[in-house]
Amino acid sequence: MIAVVKTVSEVKKQVSEWKRIGLSVGLVPTMGFLHEGHVSLINRAVEENDRVVVSDFVNPRQFSSSEDLETYPRNLEKDVSICGQAGADLVFNPEVDEMYPDDFCSSVSMTGLQNELCGKSRPGHFGGVCTVVCKLFNIVSPDRAYFGEKDAQQLAIIRHMVKDLNMNVEIVGCPTVREADGLAKSSRNSYLNEEERRASAVLYRALCAGRDLILAGERDCSRVTAVMKSVVDEEPLAEIDYIDIVDAFTIEKTEAAEGDILMAMAVYIGKTRLIDNLFMRI
Ligand code: PAJ
Repeated sequence: MIAVVKTVSEVKKQVSEWKRIGLSVGLVPTMGFLHEGHVSLINRAVEENDRVVVSDFVNPRQFSSSEDLETYPRNLEKDVSICGQAGADLVFNPEVDEMYPDDFCSSVSMTGLQNELCGKSRPGHFGGVCTVVCKLFNIVSPDRAYFGEKDAQQLAIIRHMVKDLNMNVEIVGCPTVREADGLAKSSRNSYLNEEERRASAVLYRALCAGRDLILAGERDCSRVTAVMKSVVDEEPLAEIDYIDIVDAFTIEKTEAAEGDILMAMAVYIGKTRLIDNLFMRI
């Protein structure tokens, strides 16, 4: 039976019992409203660990005042049932003041990596992500933690934080799970109406157009992103936030498509901001 736990002390108690008898622990951090993308992370964690904790917490510190914190979709009951079916052992679903009591005044900050791509249009976002993920690592003390490649910049930033701050956890990146038309699964897809849902396939179409150009021998990133932008511009409901090609590790813009690169984009479909990326090794 899966346990749902609301307090830090209960999680610590359970995990220390597991560790005492030599069991390994995997952590899957989420903001809930789980879909097949999250499930693929939980499945992998269940395969590789004796016990699995899923955190289900909409972290206010990674939303800016103009973003969708209040309306972010939630469904704890369904999440718990999905976690149970996938074989997880514990869902950690704290209230906001359990994670951030009134006197909370510490945070993890990062330079460089967090200023590119999503960092530009979401200032403070990755600081909020690092802070909550660091807290979760300290609460759960996982042997391994699982993150999706869909949020490639987040994954790169967390890997960096773990290395910089000598955290004792192995970070496992998991491939992006997509709908039949290529749209990356996301809790935010639930905001899309029928017409917007159809339009949102343009993100993956543009990524594929970029990939095909590179596979055909194009190495000039500005020419590749120009083509990707023209694909998105053909869709009237889409508005580009950014389309960039970056080094997959430093997340810095690159002029030549060489080595390990990420084609990354954020596009508004109506009011909904969607992100996607493709990794290429050239
Ligand atoms: P959330 O958006 O709920 O995503 C939780 C995890 O699921 C992330 O690692 C994300 O990359 C992964 N994920 C989401 N969609 C996916 C897909 N289609 N395929 C594969 N993996 C997918 O990312 C967050 O929450 C938060 O920032 C969090 C790390 C929990 C910190 O609050």
